[in-house]
Amino acid sequence: MKSFSIAAYISGSGSNLRAVINSSLRGNISSKVRLVIANKVVSGLDYPKELGIETAVVSREEMQRTEFLKVQIELLEKHNIDLIILAGFLKKLPLEIVEKYSGRILNIHPALLPKFGGKGMHGMAVHKAVVEAGEEFSGPTVHFVDGKYDNGEILLQIKVRLIEGETPETLQKKVLEVEHKIYAEAIKLLEERE
Ligand code: GRF
Repeated sequence: MKSFSIAAYISGSGSNLRAVINSSLRGNISSKVRLVIANKVVSGLDYPKELGIETAVVSREEMQRTEFLKVQIELLEKHNIDLIILAGFLKKLPLEIVEKYSGRILNIHPALLPKFGGKGMHGMAVHKAVVEAGEEFSGPTVHFVDGKYDNGEILLQIKVRLIEGETPETLQKKVLEVEHKIYAEAIKLLEERE
């Protein structure tokens, strides 16, 4: 069984990251989060910082492209990262990183891909689209990352049923609760495959 050295990329509150870290602390997965990268200063950096996990803000707006890439590669190599998880990361990973870590990058999406994915489909927009389409089910998807938004092979999905009078807000809450379980489960699946 493999134990991954994980880097997480975030853009927000990092509740999925927190759930993965806690699963690791409880020993539910043997992999460890060693590095957290955000594209701006966000509250999701606080929890890993408290635990002494290295965090970094790497912003394309503030550096040249070559520097932007170099900083990330150096951090990933420093921590011998062999699994990258995108946890509410709203930017595209540079293609060089997608290629270098091909088959080793996961994303979590709050709907049942391949439906309700793609550019601009994040946050409440996803849940609003699901409710408006009158779907019977939604639920999170963990998938491999390739060069396109929400496009790579699906690793794990869990369905939740929409109830009468479901709103985007109630659906988001319901799906997020499941997200907090499924990301660690997906990592466990990968650990067992190795
Ligand atoms: C989650 O809904 C996730 O599926 C999506 O972005 C959200 C991130 O939430 N990719 P958090 O920052 O982990 O709380």
